[in-house]
Amino acid sequence: MRKIDIFDTTLRDGEQSAGINLNTAEKIEIAKQLERLGVTIIEAGFPAASPGDFEAVNLIAKTVKDSIITGLARAVKGDIDAVYNAVKDAQQPHIHTFLATSPIHMEYKLKKSPDQVIEQAVEAVKYAKSKVNLVEFSCEDGFRSDTDFLVRIISEVIKAGATTINVPDTVGYASPQEYGALFKFLRENVAGAEKVKFSAHCHDDLGMAVANSIAAMENGADQIECTINGIGERAGNAALEEIGVALHIRKDIYGVETGLNLKEIKRSSQLVSRLTGVVIQPNKAVVGRNAFAHESGIHQDGVLKNPETYEIISPALIGEGDVPLVLGKHSGRAAFRDRSEKMGFQLSDEKLNKAFAEFKKLADRKKEVTEEDLLALLTEQQVSVEDVPLFELKSVQVQYGTENIPTATASVQTPEGEVKTVVATGSGSVEAIFNTLEQLVEGPINLQDYRVTSVGKGRDALAEAVTNIQYQDYTYTGRDNAQDVLEASAKAYLNAINRHLIQESIRARQLV
Ligand code: KIV
Ligand code: ZN
Repeated sequence: MRKIDIFDTTLRDGEQSAGINLNTAEKIEIAKQLERLGVTIIEAGFPAASPGDFEAVNLIAKTVKDSIITGLARAVKGDIDAVYNAVKDAQQPHIHTFLATSPIHMEYKLKKSPDQVIEQAVEAVKYAKSKVNLVEFSCEDGFRSDTDFLVRIISEVIKAGATTINVPDTVGYASPQEYGALFKFLRENVAGAEKVKFSAHCHDDLGMAVANSIAAMENGADQIECTINGIGERAGNAALEEIGVALHIRKDIYGVETGLNLKEIKRSSQLVSRLTGVVIQPNKAVVGRNAFAHESGIHQDGVLKNPETYEIISPALIGEGDVPLVLGKHSGRAAFRDRSEKMGFQLSDEKLNKAFAEFKKLADRKKEVTEEDLLALLTEQQVSVEDVPLFELKSVQVQYGTENIPTATASVQTPEGEVKTVVATGSGSVEAIFNTLEQLVEGPINLQDYRVTSVGKGRDALAEAVTNIQYQDYTYTGRDNAQDVLEASAKAYLNAINRHLIQESIRARQLV
């Protein structure tokens, strides 16, 4: 069967979305999950963008074995060197370089003539090719480019050694018919087209990113670039889970395979949502909470008689089952370690002990500790940073009454090791907590977003809170969970402050 390569750019185009900033440990966790999911290529970041990006791509290149690792580079030597140095230790290093090719980008952004753009692209591809064998060239804003110019530049970069040609719909403007026709035209007219892989990269501004990607595939693209949950610039990128499942469910018409391990879809989606703080809309295809929920009586009746009456995808296909009771409050450390290893976590003893303590607290309060609860607890420990002293919430208490002014009192261990008690009021319980914790640092902290969701089902489900704060010119996403929404909110706010401390420590280390 024809193979379509899945190029995942969650950690590059996805991470570029407003409000998302992942730390290195979180990026590595996502990369390991993408490897389990079976993606062909992981675009792990933009190494020239910052030392933090470089470090993350480099560590991912050293950690992941089964997927090709790439990083993005503008078509300039410095960026290409940064990608090469970051990915050179990967089993299969790859450099992805790009340059804009549309008239509007060339004239206003690059201020270059088409001939100068071709010259720069060829030079960049030759330079990248002198470093690694796998070189992808992207014509940024390719869909809005002049097609004859595309033929010229692509023919030249193939001669220069490019192995993959990506023609993005950078601004999400294409229709499936047009985007498909473009790939057909390029396949038929580019010199050397038969030697390379063509790639589709679509943004979702008009809600057509997945349809466009599939249209490109039907017209000669052998690679699709996409992100988990469709996160990405503006309206996002094509959603990996939708492409993977659509190509599988409709293999009768598409006749292709992706090599994805679809059973890892649900877990990948939840991990990315949890770590990025981007909530999945309930009706999101494939991975939304309601994707398999049948509400109307007629549908429920049909599904009970035969699930195929209304279900074209079985939840089991994407690894969504009835969430089993995995451990109880009498389970010991060995069983807990065993379970966490089976779930793919490799925690240090210190982190395992912390996760175990959290699990015991939860098991005391909650009837059933589910796989989803464990995933939340273990992920939290896995991505925590061990060597930076942080704030730790010891206790929080809120006084609330419809006739009273909400007042919060929090006891917090500071990075210096002393325990401080802080008190403040607010117009509601949550604001009182945030006002209280804000006193721990030199303010102001600007709260940009705050959300609480439940992990799993049931009224005793864990609460997961996400906060987005702006502090000293940077945005930080904090996240944590607890049995109680107010405690989860306090921990998530403190987590955002702690991310500031971690970033400060990374910046300080980079200066020495
Ligand atoms: O959307 C786009 O054009 C991109 C390129 C850099 C590949 O993300
Ligand atoms: Zn893009």
